[in-house]
Amino acid sequence: MIPRVAMFGTGYVGLVSGVCIADFGVNVICVDVNKEKIDGLNNGKIPIYEPGLDVFLERNIKAGRIQFTTDSKKAIEESDVLFIAVGTPPMENGEADMQYVYAVAKTIGEHMNGYKVIVDKSTVPVGTGQVVKKIIADKLKERGVEYEFGVVSNPEFLREGKALYDFTHPDRVVIGVESKEVAEIMKKVYRPLYINETPFIITNIETAEMIKYACNAFLATKITFINEIANLCEKVGANVQQVSKAMGRDGRISPKFLHAGPGFGGSCFPKDTKALVQIAEKHGVHMSVVSSVIEANHRQKKMVTEKLEKVAGDLKGKTIGILGLAFKPETDDMRDAPSLTIIPDLVEKGANIRAYDPQAMDEAKKILDKYADNINYSKHAYDAAEDVDALIIITEWHEFRNMDLTLLKKIMKGNIFYDARNIYSRKDIEEKGFVFIGTGV
Ligand code: UDX
Repeated sequence: MIPRVAMFGTGYVGLVSGVCIADFGVNVICVDVNKEKIDGLNNGKIPIYEPGLDVFLERNIKAGRIQFTTDSKKAIEESDVLFIAVGTPPMENGEADMQYVYAVAKTIGEHMNGYKVIVDKSTVPVGTGQVVKKIIADKLKERGVEYEFGVVSNPEFLREGKALYDFTHPDRVVIGVESKEVAEIMKKVYRPLYINETPFIITNIETAEMIKYACNAFLATKITFINEIANLCEKVGANVQQVSKAMGRDGRISPKFLHAGPGFGGSCFPKDTKALVQIAEKHGVHMSVVSSVIEANHRQKKMVTEKLEKVAGDLKGKTIGILGLAFKPETDDMRDAPSLTIIPDLVEKGANIRAYDPQAMDEAKKILDKYADNINYSKHAYDAAEDVDALIIITEWHEFRNMDLTLLKKIMKGNIFYDARNIYSRKDIEEKGFVFIGTGV
């Protein structure tokens, strides 16, 4: 029998997981406390920008495999496998705020009406599986009922912008369980992947929880490492792209996540590196590498304004064009985006901003509200370059990769072209009469 799924949380991970699991042929009920969001989703309105999500959603709504509701009780009663995919935002001290995960666990305990499998999909501190188990067990005791249940840690590794592909073509599926039977139920949820020979890594709950943090911290470290090599390349006349290419050919290193840039952002790396350091401190372990990564990544973002200043001189009264606000292309997500450090730094130095992003401008406007007087949001990329003293590419959207350089040169007032993502070659830019700044090239 195919288990029926309830997905708590319709944020990035919850929504994509819900829609993709429905696409596997499973009946899914997505639950969220936000009525407006649920009403929107029931009318096919997607709250995030993720390529292809509309197509997946539509075909699963049509097939009757996916529903959206605020009614937790109904979702719990009508489902066998209950995923918790709510947010775990960082608190002031870097620790993950677990209140939403615990609230869902409590609700599950309140309405459980038979055997259920409870799956943690949110990235949670090691040990959360056991806490969730206790919250549910306590609730059942309070109600005076006895139902068996299994708890699972099933971390998600999808990338924003490539979420649907990643979910449906994962390198591996990690399942942390306490019994073989529960692992078998999870294989049924992921049946198309399981029969397709995707490696399933079955571990205990704590190991699965740890795997997610270890992966994200390692990838964040890899990016930070190449960023520091890039900074040195600039000083010694080396080219980081060639360094990365040569490093990547070493099978032990691999070519991915070796692109130097203005620092990593997003909903995962900044949050998870901080949380890992916090978890480790609690257990008396000092994560010196990951702590340094957090610090170095912060410096990397600050460095953009410093490097520009070295070339452009005093930024007071200057106008800077910004291409790309989202933390990476193909998303409207602004969480911890480098632009959120760079723009305030530039404004504080007295510069005015003309900014453009294909998807993230509405979100950026809200977050950068404090700087609204100094930011002009442009209609398109060339509009953002109009009359500016310098142009900075912060996010490597496709439409910025092949711009008309002659036109840019004509419409810009100054001639500084800062390509923080290394999507242009120094030679091409300099040939057009620009002063080029890159990252380690
Ligand atoms: C990441 C992980 O890849 C994913 O497995 C996890 O589930 C969530 O976090 P995501 O945050 O969506 O996914 O984006 P990703 O493509 O990994 O990029 C993260 C950040 O690192 C971006 O700011 C990106 O610009 C930066 N980055 C990535 C680099 O600067 N250089 C690189 O080589 C790769």
